[in-house]
Amino acid sequence: MQATRFLKKFVTSTNTRSLASGTRKVTLIPGDGIGPEIAAAVQKIFATANVPIEWESVDVTPVRNPDGRFGIPQAAIDSVNRNQIGLKSPLMTPIGKGHRSLNLQLRKEFNLYANVRPCRSLEGYKTLYDDVDVVTIRENTEGEYSGIEHEIVDGVVQSIKLITEEASKRVAEFAFQYAKDNQRSKVTVVHKANIMRMSDGLFLRCCRETADKYPEIKFEEKYLDTVCLNMVQDPRQYDVLVMPNLYGDILSDMCAGLVGGLGLTPSGNIGLNGALFEAVHGTAPDIAGKDLANPTALLLSAVMMLRYMDLNQHADKIQQACFATIKEAKYLTGDLGGKAKCSEFTNSICEKLN
Ligand SMILES: NC(=O)c1ccc[n+]([C@@H]2O[C@H](COP(=O)([O-])OP(=O)(O)OC[C@H]3O[C@@H](n4cnc5c(N)ncnc54)[C@H](O)[C@@H]3O)[C@@H](O)[C@H]2O)c1
Repeated sequence: MQATRFLKKFVTSTNTRSLASGTRKVTLIPGDGIGPEIAAAVQKIFATANVPIEWESVDVTPVRNPDGRFGIPQAAIDSVNRNQIGLKSPLMTPIGKGHRSLNLQLRKEFNLYANVRPCRSLEGYKTLYDDVDVVTIRENTEGEYSGIEHEIVDGVVQSIKLITEEASKRVAEFAFQYAKDNQRSKVTVVHKANIMRMSDGLFLRCCRETADKYPEIKFEEKYLDTVCLNMVQDPRQYDVLVMPNLYGDILSDMCAGLVGGLGLTPSGNIGLNGALFEAVHGTAPDIAGKDLANPTALLLSAVMMLRYMDLNQHADKIQQACFATIKEAKYLTGDLGGKAKCSEFTNSICEKLN
């Protein structure tokens, strides 16, 4: 299955588009707000590190389809389908009006069923705990984010949380395989099956059944509220966590907070037909266009992408240069307590690569 492929890094020649030169094409979505600035920073760092990939930049600004609804332009869909791998900057979502979240559409369009977020303390950047090392794996296609909402009568709306055995099993399988392939020892399923007996109950059952197939990985079941409490008191007790969509959205941001915030946290969305890597923060409209953004989260997402493509040496080199720049603390951006511009931080990483 595709999850196994990701983890075993089989994808190089079979799943991504290789050019005659040996370089591989990757779709780039520069996004909105600070998106284009941090995407340019990543491109510059990749060029300095001589990473053998060619970017295919696509615009995902919604266009009106023949049915009158707004959606992702066909050219962007074709690019991701061709390349089966992409890097995405944040996209702006209008609240309560206009088109549906493009992020949701992308996840649905490419069946990106597992969102993976490693949260690890960075040496040299002091946070509450020095030794956080957790990975959240979030079901990405259904649950509370199924987008099924309607008004029953005036003043009464209903939102449906859809949980299926198929989606629950594949994300559970992904989590255990991830733990196995990354020398992790424990998977915790996060749920509220005491309240949502049928929906979370089904998710929990799928995780239990999958756990039986991985006797070498320790398995535990925890309520969401308990995990939140434990996580801020002692994050060391957790390793890999798997959970339904909404819980994953919230808990993964909380874990990001423990290691220094959204500006540092990468993520990967792994799907049936490829993968899309993205920073977890938004478009930061307050600092957009001012050369103030921290490109680390997008850069580390791009490093995850390189590992997915089996370009591990390039991944290691770039990651080391990035961590060294943070540890040196000479060119830190505002969100990390420094005064440096995005371009200065980027140049410092490039200098370390040279
Ligand atoms: N994956 C995505 O595409 C994604 C994720 C979250 C939010 N959004 C969208 O982004 C827009 C703004 O959302 P928001 O304000 O709630 O969250 P945000 O993450 O954009 O900003 C929150 C705060 O963090 C700061 N910040 C975020 N990323 C930063 C970075 N790389 N460097 C330095 N500072 C950074 C911002 O300046 C702001 O003060 C909304 O339209 C939202 O829908 C998109």
